[in-house]
Amino acid sequence: MKTILVTGGAGFIGSNFIRYLFGPGGFKGRVVNLDKLTYAGNLENLLDIEQAQKGHYTFVKGDVCDYKLLGQLFRKHKFDAIVHFAAESHVDRSIFGPKDFIETNIHGTFALLETARQCWGGRRDVRFHHISTDEVYGSLGKTGKFKETTPYDPRSPYSASKASSDHLVMAYHHTYGLPATISNCSNNYGPFHFPEKLIPLVIINALAGKPLPVYGDGAQVRDWLYVEDHCAAIWQVLRKGRPGQTYNVGGNCEMKNIDVVRAICAALEKDAPSSQNPAMKGPYAGLITFVKDRPGHDLRYAIDFSKLKRELGWKPSVTFKEGLARTVRWYLANPGWVIDVKKGSYRKWIKKNYKR
Ligand code: NAD
Ligand code: DAU
Repeated sequence: MKTILVTGGAGFIGSNFIRYLFGPGGFKGRVVNLDKLTYAGNLENLLDIEQAQKGHYTFVKGDVCDYKLLGQLFRKHKFDAIVHFAAESHVDRSIFGPKDFIETNIHGTFALLETARQCWGGRRDVRFHHISTDEVYGSLGKTGKFKETTPYDPRSPYSASKASSDHLVMAYHHTYGLPATISNCSNNYGPFHFPEKLIPLVIINALAGKPLPVYGDGAQVRDWLYVEDHCAAIWQVLRKGRPGQTYNVGGNCEMKNIDVVRAICAALEKDAPSSQNPAMKGPYAGLITFVKDRPGHDLRYAIDFSKLKRELGWKPSVTFKEGLARTVRWYLANPGWVIDVKKGSYRKWIKKNYKR
């Protein structure tokens, strides 16, 4: 692989993946990062890469729905692989306003597939890897895990849009022979996670002495995976996965939301004790507040990743305790990033630095 198109590389997982590629991944080729820089895209996530990888890394501000731009980029850079992260990713936002999810997640994936089909012709030495979610499988009861053969049963506008894009990817493989793979992953956490998602939201609110909102009774279960482990899985699938296959990725780490929030409070007490925090009048756990539940809130997700382990030798390497400690320390060490993300001041920086 010489040149990889990464879409959505300025977001949480995409930026971690680009850093992983040039670090532990040992990639020596070129990466083109195509990102629209929505509220979730932040070029501060990749400042170190911009500086260290001159000549190997290019950022392009643009929309995955823009056929003209996609065609130009394919002709100019002659990609031999695509890793497609770009998406609207927040379930709550999809409930309040699904339109952007349909546009980016479905039409954007279609535009990328169609451009790849036309520009790559019948080439078999290329790869289209689509990043998807365990949410396409719906909700589990108290037992069982999602396998690659579990029927799709999406239940939010977000998961329905991701399911739709998954079907398009596999349709392009079966109909046109596009060498495509999909990975369906559980909940990620780690550095650069946008602070509207549970773990960063709780860390940031706690440090500011604000309520820690837990939806419903907090009994919903998610399967948590440290983001760098997800990046390692994607890199394995991209290089060694079989075209036409789906690979489930998970952390073997089922936790109730309330227990996640309590674990964050405990990790914060260790590294930034509430007794020394002027915003706090008692322990962080005292800020836990049960709020109205998310409509259609899926009860439980759990991933069976035995196919990925068996075929490609991947398994998670970072325990939740270790991953959470690293994450908490990262947020404590990067208050400027949080302020910028919240104020949106990085947008001005982008306007000044990137013009198309
Ligand atoms: P994110 O919201 O942090 O980042 C999404 C990125 O895509 C942003 O940089 C944004 O600017 C960009 N983007 C949005 N619309 C675009 C468009 N039309 N054109 C170009 N760029 C656009 O999301 P994330 O959490 O990093 O998730 C990345 C991918 O991984 C998504 O496809 C998501 O469905 C999937 N996924 C996420 C998780 C998770 O726990 N976060 C788990 C499994 C799968
Ligand atoms: O499972 C993979 C999915 O994980 C990805 O496909 C999504 O892109 C990603 O956003 C994530 O979706 P979730 O909805 O699971 O993540 P979120 O962090 O929003 O919520 C995690 C759980 O915590 C969920 O059960 C809802 C709950 N929650 C969330 C927030 C923001 C709360 O209890 N309080 C909150 O304030």
